[in-house]
Amino acid sequence: MRISVIGCGYLGAVHAAAMTALGHEVVGVDVDAARIAALSDGRAPFYEPGLPELLAETSATGRLRFTTDLSQIAGCAVHFVCVGTPQKHNEFAADLTYVDTAFEGIAAYLAPGDVVVGKSTVPVGTAERLARGLEEVGATLVWNPEFLREGFAVQDTLHPDRLVYGLPEGEAGERGRAVLDAVYATPLAEGVPLVVTDYATAQLVKVAANSFLATKISFINAMAELCEATGADVTALADAIGHDARIGRKFLNAGLGFGGGCLPKDIRAFMARAGELGVDQALSFLREVDSINMRRRVRMVDLAREVCAGSIVGRRVAVLGAAFKPDSDDVRDSPALSVAAQMQLQGAHVIVTDPQAIENARRAWPDLVFAETAEAAAQDADVVILATEWREYRALDPVRLAGLVRSKAIVDGRNVLDPAAWRAAGWTYRALGRP
Ligand code: UDX
Repeated sequence: MRISVIGCGYLGAVHAAAMTALGHEVVGVDVDAARIAALSDGRAPFYEPGLPELLAETSATGRLRFTTDLSQIAGCAVHFVCVGTPQKHNEFAADLTYVDTAFEGIAAYLAPGDVVVGKSTVPVGTAERLARGLEEVGATLVWNPEFLREGFAVQDTLHPDRLVYGLPEGEAGERGRAVLDAVYATPLAEGVPLVVTDYATAQLVKVAANSFLATKISFINAMAELCEATGADVTALADAIGHDARIGRKFLNAGLGFGGGCLPKDIRAFMARAGELGVDQALSFLREVDSINMRRRVRMVDLAREVCAGSIVGRRVAVLGAAFKPDSDDVRDSPALSVAAQMQLQGAHVIVTDPQAIENARRAWPDLVFAETAEAAAQDADVVILATEWREYRALDPVRLAGLVRSKAIVDGRNVLDPAAWRAAGWTYRALGRP
């Protein structure tokens, strides 16, 4: 099939390459000329494991191209809209500017019978409004939310957990379904579960899933607060409750909490939308989920202060990690950077390191000082903070690091280090929710 992908960020770039890998002919469009130049060169414009290989493989087919010229989508039968929906300034609601601009822009190049596929995360009700706008050109809108995780984006796009189609009623819906079935023929043949539903449900599925994940993380972080008050160990608690298949161990890692370009803004936009719909009470628990999450960052700074004998002013602090999670260079709402910035503002000398995200972090927080390696960051440190659980930080040798720091104090913000090994090497080991 001939497919266009509008918006080539973390979602769209991977989607465009993955659709090519599935055998389609794809044109990816973005307003960011630098991003398009990189993609046209077969280079990934951001760090995502597996994407460089997928781009190399799919670029070589001659069926994948990238452009800033929207008119190039003319002639495609299917158009995926993959633009961002960030949080509005000073408001919880989602900013739909990019979505609206994309839909306005593509309208001129659509032909009757084309299928437009919404992938962006939007407030419920948006698809219904956008579908009305497409009626004039005779195009059909399908809502097909995306569940990819950064760091696993290639795998999640080629082999998703499930596919969801939100369809309009009648013939248009049937046509939309047939087209998506053809687009996703390979994963469907592999047995990927398919849920076919209406627009409202499809839009809600995405925010409901992210709200559940956020709630699970904040639940275990609330338990971490209880653990701290009682001397209990939240990692053992998570293991123990996680053995119950109804609960499950995944997403029960207590620590610095969630960040990134999705979970925080999605739960806020969901609350804002519920308010507009007059059902704000239904989601008032998400306010608590958000508060528990944000409290972790404050607690982290307090813990660092405790190990620095009550003051971080003038202390040298090494922060290991800037990305919001490992295997990503994304620093949007990163808990690691939030902690680093708070400590810097409170008078500490903060040195941040990250295997992939330094460039993005420097752009977001130009006043922070960065080092290329954990060893360089830890040099003469009064306290080391593990803020993002990259594999190389989990594998750090406490004996070797002890020779570099001024004071052997580590705060494990992700509960991934072995306290016994660090203590045996003479370190003061502290963590969120552990004795
Ligand atoms: C999320 C959803 O998982 C994905 O399905 C959706 O499409 C987009 O949003 P992503 O933002 O890539 O994906 O990150 P995710 O892996 O969900 O992690 C989010 C945050 O939660 C990270 O900051 C991570 O460190 C944190 N987290 C995750 C925890 O603090 N504890 C956990 O147990 C799991």
